[in-house]
Amino acid sequence: MSSILTFKDVSKVYDSAEGGSRSALHDASFSVGARRKVAIVGRSGSGKSTLLHLAAGIDVATSGVVEVMGNNLSDLGEEERTLLRRDEMGLIFQFFYLMPHLTVRDNVALPALIAKQHYGDYGPRLKSLLDRVGLPDRINDTVQKLSGGEMQRVAICRALLRRPKLLLADEPTGNLDDENGSMVMQLMLDLVEEEGTTLLYVTHSSSFAELADEVWEIHSGELSTPSCNDNG
Ligand SMILES: Nc1ncnc2c1ncn2[C@@H]1O[C@H](COP(=O)(O)OP(=O)(O)O)[C@@H](O)[C@H]1O
Ligand SMILES: [Mg+2]
Repeated sequence: MSSILTFKDVSKVYDSAEGGSRSALHDASFSVGARRKVAIVGRSGSGKSTLLHLAAGIDVATSGVVEVMGNNLSDLGEEERTLLRRDEMGLIFQFFYLMPHLTVRDNVALPALIAKQHYGDYGPRLKSLLDRVGLPDRINDTVQKLSGGEMQRVAICRALLRRPKLLLADEPTGNLDDENGSMVMQLMLDLVEEEGTTLLYVTHSSSFAELADEVWEIHSGELSTPSCNDNG
């Protein structure tokens, strides 16, 4: 099976404010095959967001190789990384990062508008995603009128609109109550299953982590992945 995301001895060192350096990720190596669902767990500050940012090409590794669908991110310039992210990846964050004054439709459409697609190309897909997450009648509402759970369902639609190969979700339920968190988590997992999307998600909840195909732990920048037979 071809790999969607590969890390080879990837480290990230940040300069600290005091003039020293801080190792946020140390020699991480793994490969994620198509359609896998991976949960990442670890304490606050252990390097989870750093790992996702490196995978998304939002941040660059200090050493090692990050490959997304065969593209070595360090061979790409910032603009090429942005295009790869736009065309092949979807991102979901704890605090949604929606545009509160825009409608649900316009928020979900944003990645298509940035890619200069016409409504005829993405409109049916947009509507079917909103149906799928139970928000078809909110399409004309501004996002600021929605609850947190509804906002995250909109963010899931936005992330999946252009059928990304890889979905990265950083504590997608971290700002939701248990009931909404469960609903959002289940929707996200069901949708990636239906669409064949590869998923990496960070969660604090062990019950949400158990829904993945595999669970990785990270402690102070040291990633431990289970030895896994069926991922290659
Ligand atoms: N831009 C940055 N500059 C300096 N240090 C950072 C930066 N981003 C993260 N760190 C540090 O790297 C470590 C890992 O952070 P992060 O990946 O955000 O952890 P997590 O998402 O697991 O809470 C922490 O010690 C954090 O303070
Ligand atoms: Mg984080």
